[in-house]
Amino acid sequence: MSTEKIYGSLQGLKPSEIKQLQRLYHQRIRSDRLTTVELAERVAAISAQLNKAVSVYLNRRGQVVRVGVGNLYQTKIPPSQLPRYSGLRLSGIRCLTTSLSPSPPSEACLTAMVLQRLDALVYLNITDKGTFRKDGSPTGFVSTVYLAHLLPPFASANGNQGYWQISPPLSLDAVASEDFLDLVGNLESEFEREYTSQETSPEQERVLLVGVHTSDISEQQFQYNMLELARLVDTAGGKVVAQITQKRPKPDSQTVVGAGKVAEIALKVQSLGVNLVVFDRELSPSQVRTLEDEFGVRVVDRTEVILDIFAQRAQSKAGKLQVELAQLEYMLPRLTGKGQAMSRLGGGIGTRGPGETKLEMEKRAIQKRIARLQQEVNELQSHRARLRQQRQAKNMPCVAIVGYTNAGKSTLINSLTNANVYTADQLFATLDPTTRRLSLMDHKTGKSGTIVITDTVGFIHELPPELVDSFRATLEEVIEADALLHVVDLSHPAWESHIQSVRNILRDMPLAPTLEILAFNKIDIADSQHLNTAREKYPNALFISAEKRLGLETLRHRLLYTLVP
Ligand code: GTP
Repeated sequence: MSTEKIYGSLQGLKPSEIKQLQRLYHQRIRSDRLTTVELAERVAAISAQLNKAVSVYLNRRGQVVRVGVGNLYQTKIPPSQLPRYSGLRLSGIRCLTTSLSPSPPSEACLTAMVLQRLDALVYLNITDKGTFRKDGSPTGFVSTVYLAHLLPPFASANGNQGYWQISPPLSLDAVASEDFLDLVGNLESEFEREYTSQETSPEQERVLLVGVHTSDISEQQFQYNMLELARLVDTAGGKVVAQITQKRPKPDSQTVVGAGKVAEIALKVQSLGVNLVVFDRELSPSQVRTLEDEFGVRVVDRTEVILDIFAQRAQSKAGKLQVELAQLEYMLPRLTGKGQAMSRLGGGIGTRGPGETKLEMEKRAIQKRIARLQQEVNELQSHRARLRQQRQAKNMPCVAIVGYTNAGKSTLINSLTNANVYTADQLFATLDPTTRRLSLMDHKTGKSGTIVITDTVGFIHELPPELVDSFRATLEEVIEADALLHVVDLSHPAWESHIQSVRNILRDMPLAPTLEILAFNKIDIADSQHLNTAREKYPNALFISAEKRLGLETLRHRLLYTLVP
């Protein structure tokens, strides 16, 4: 019977011994006890007889749900099979495990306890001095017992107490008389208190960031990338609760980080109640699957975070269409990956499982939808193109504001034109190009003119190619413009690399205008050293504060004399 499966290594076990192990499934104890003396003695007796560790897992109702030969690590329950795995609570499973030598539980064993978020661990030291009573019941097989349980997260995060607590050596009688409901109830309310005292709301995702510092980037660049990733997560509405980084020449092909780091991340996920792990790079579908199995929570990459932000922010029909298109295009190869994995599971000819059929159907449906969306996007584009033609017919010069995300583009367009473009101190506040007219006048010379000014979606360092493609309608505003107004946030320490990122993306767009007006923004809060460097390196640039309306008159003049014939 599958419910009586024995886990772990069964090598060399006799059928009678397997039967004995299977009989453990028939044991049931009172739900308010950690263990009974009888159950512990029975497990210890079998373990002594096999000369191997034995682990028995019980649920909150006191039923045995898993029996394994081996220690806690060798017999552990995968996260997906645990009854509860919310991160904020314990899993609802406790374990009795045996040790042939008299010792407290090892670190590997305790780590396995944390990874399964066990309610408690009863660690039985066994002796071979046990005997059987007349009625066949074992006695004297247990010498000492250690009781271990998880520690609430912030005790472990802040102090040096570690992730768990172990009792001093106890007698089996003492452990068997322990009130289990009390123990687990107290622990869970402590967990809850710690979480509610934090600033996260229950529906907010608790995010762990993982960064791999590969040898191709500098320490400084790596730090900026991690900072940017944290801001992206923040913009997407998540709460970053921890960050783990690793230095390695290149990412591991299966798990991105090394095996030791995988375990460290899994521990952090458990102890901090993390429900989303975000990697600083693109992950392959198989890497995502492997990592999700290890951590027991969702794993996403940087592109998915950006897509998520796009999905939340898109307002106009065009914006929404583009986001959906980008998401589907991102999903499709990942679905294919899953399909292939399933067909491998299916094995021989004609054994396509229902999973695969469904995926195939999903894939076809998605492809159809992509085609339709693509068409709609194209139609919107031709509509826009007509508008542009009308504008060009009226001979109105056009400038597109470009810049790294959060540079202050929307603020600038607002200050210049009173347009009410949404600004926020978040990345990617703008997703839809906003076009405004701007009347310019030089009172001294009497020269005047009207130009069109468009806001564009923020550029981001290493914008994933899928996004560049799908947001081409937004970027097309750039292509149609006569000049670019490149806004740079001079208060950002990485302002120079921001300039490069924006220029790199534009360089790949052959039709983008080459005329660029560089405007350094946020001079009200910029470091004076950065100001001097920028002045020296870019003598033709303008220095402004969109928010404080500084330098805007000079900017208007520059626009007038550059754009208006
Ligand atoms: P995306 O839409 O993400 O591309 O951003 P954006 O470039 O349009 O930036 P936005 O105008 O939304 O401004 C980003 C943040 O910078 C907001 O919090 C603004 O208030 C702030 N900001 C803009 N200009 C200035 C400035 O001159 N000085 C200061 N101190 N803050 C500014």
